[in-house]
Amino acid sequence: MNDKLPDSVTLDSLQAMKHRGEKIACLTVYDAAFTQVLEAAGVDMFIIGDSLGMVLMGYESTVQVTMDDMVHHAANVARVGRRAWRVVDLPYRSYTNNAQALANAQRLVDEGGADMVKLEGGVAMAGIIEHLVGHGIPVCGHVGLLPQSIEEMGGYKVQGHGAEAARAILADAQALQAAGAGLLVMECIPAVLGAEITGELEIPTIGIGAGADCDGQVLVLYDMLGITQGRLPRFVRDFMTGAGSIPAAVRAYVAAVKDGSYPAPEHVY
Ligand code: KIV
Repeated sequence: MNDKLPDSVTLDSLQAMKHRGEKIACLTVYDAAFTQVLEAAGVDMFIIGDSLGMVLMGYESTVQVTMDDMVHHAANVARVGRRAWRVVDLPYRSYTNNAQALANAQRLVDEGGADMVKLEGGVAMAGIIEHLVGHGIPVCGHVGLLPQSIEEMGGYKVQGHGAEAARAILADAQALQAAGAGLLVMECIPAVLGAEITGELEIPTIGIGAGADCDGQVLVLYDMLGITQGRLPRFVRDFMTGAGSIPAAVRAYVAAVKDGSYPAPEHVY
């Protein structure tokens, strides 16, 4: 694993960005070549997401992704990554109890070079998060649309519509922060709810289809480069159009997140 540079992004620096109102530019990444392109373009944070199951492996959803898959791709990124904060997904059913979650999270750190692990779910995940954080593993929560529970959720739909559903997601977010989560991903929720949660929480929020007021934004790399085939969610913008090159497209994404022009009204719910 490579050493990080002295000015690399840390959880403290992400927290400081929230406090001074500087937006966090995050993208998913799964390999060494893109890691170097993204770092050169100024991306602050990577999610080595289990979306790799669909993007790279051709699965219909994320639930077939294994721990070995995650370790393999996280290590690809860690081998060359020098600056960005690296969040690695715990895959489906890899955190069903404290002992299993800790063993798998430790593997992502030791073998995959994770700075932080991410897991999906609300209040029910608080105990697991406390356990991981208590053993020194930083954790990122993930609320709203939960791709690992896509069957139970009835498909890729916006979550948190209506006062009761919105209150439940806010309560999830607060419970995860109280359990020790250091970051929170919010997926596919109304922009007003994304703004409310971001205002309520001390920890930085990273939105994907959660409005412009989140502390940072993330997109699946292959979506924002216009590579993904088929119908894309409303929140995706193709930054490759008009950019001329992949590095220029990534620089345009970073600039648009930082200056608040992405997401625009047409990308939010
Ligand atoms: O798996 C993934 O890529 C993710 C991000 C889209 C947030 O969880």
